[in-house]
Amino acid sequence: MSPTVRRQNPIPVPARLVSGVTVSIPPSTTGSQPLTMAAADGPADGAAGGPRPVIEVAGLAKRYGEVEAVRGIDLTVRAGETFGFLGPNGAGKTTTIKILCTLANATSGSARVAGFDTATQRDAVRRNIGLVFQDTTLDGYLTAEQNLRFHAELYGVPKAAVLPRMRQVLDMVGLWDRKDSLVSTFSGGMQRRLEIARGLLHAPHVLFLDEPTVGLDPQTRSSIWAYINELKGREDITIFLTTHYMDEAEHCDRIAIIDHGQIVAIDTPEALKASIGKDRVQIQTADDQAAIAALAGTFGLDAAVHEGAVTFSVASGEQFVPRLFTELGIPIRSVSVSRPSLDDVFMSYTGKTIRDAEASGTDAMRQMAARFRGRR
Ligand SMILES: Nc1ncnc2c1ncn2[C@@H]1O[C@H](COP(=O)(O)OP(=O)(O)O)[C@@H](O)[C@H]1O
Ligand SMILES: [Mg+2]
Repeated sequence: MSPTVRRQNPIPVPARLVSGVTVSIPPSTTGSQPLTMAAADGPADGAAGGPRPVIEVAGLAKRYGEVEAVRGIDLTVRAGETFGFLGPNGAGKTTTIKILCTLANATSGSARVAGFDTATQRDAVRRNIGLVFQDTTLDGYLTAEQNLRFHAELYGVPKAAVLPRMRQVLDMVGLWDRKDSLVSTFSGGMQRRLEIARGLLHAPHVLFLDEPTVGLDPQTRSSIWAYINELKGREDITIFLTTHYMDEAEHCDRIAIIDHGQIVAIDTPEALKASIGKDRVQIQTADDQAAIAALAGTFGLDAAVHEGAVTFSVASGEQFVPRLFTELGIPIRSVSVSRPSLDDVFMSYTGKTIRDAEASGTDAMRQMAARFRGRR
């Protein structure tokens, strides 16, 4: 649209928060380019035309020799969404994210990120995205600050803007007071937090996180999620992440479940869980047999005693429980309602649990081969 967008604000916070005009810091190999970007390809999310999808993927496929890593994926991610790719090891998550980040070529199909084509407009895609990958790419013999300054240089962040922005992102991940420490002295969780800070330094439109918490202990995983959730509240950003942790997928606005290179289901976690069935209700009563008879007689429900409680399924447990108290006619001592989990969802769409899928021999072999090739 407009030929050139000049960055007005010296601090590289997302410019959309400042001016309402979509601009971003241009890529730079010298670190000294003027603060302009060629916008002939159009802005990232169409300031005039309303929000466009930030990620658009159509018929995407990727083959590595005999291996069909990605087999025809279609999806759209809207601005501001946290979108998760949930699937077992070897499902094609990293391959997809690499194509979106311009680090791998698709065999067929297309992908656009921030309005730019990942195959033909790589530079434009790159300056609009931040990456946090599974394997760390920090330099352990440099300090946290030096790592960030190096990144700022690569992305051409204006010199005067580096310090305030660095402070902002390091504060966010709780590492400002450790900026002078060597990264090699950081724990795994601190390194991951620093990588998230680095991925955000140049104020990207889209942050890609490939298995952001894999290998971290539960406490660190939950603190990383606290940072990601805080980030969503603070920056105008779209997050695309991959995970094979069910609980992690619960943090996403929408998830795609991917298995063997194909999306088998895509929706909000709640809707996916609702789609596969009913809630499970368990009640403790003064007289279980009478309760079972009353459930059948009053509500037409088929109940039985499991795990010491009268157990049955209903479409919406929360809404049913109040009726139960008023209409059952048998004293109830306790009630528990449980929802289907994303584990149940995966199982229902693929016929196996995510762990079964990961244990499958062929995938394990492919994984090992890929790791071997990746290690130069
Ligand atoms: N560079 C590669 N060469 C050959 N096969 C690969 C390569 N990268 C990934 N694969 C294979 O593609 C499939 C998908 O891998 P990947 O995208 O890494 O899955 P995920 O990230 O979901 O674990 C796997 O079978 C994997 O072994
Ligand atoms: Mg992966």
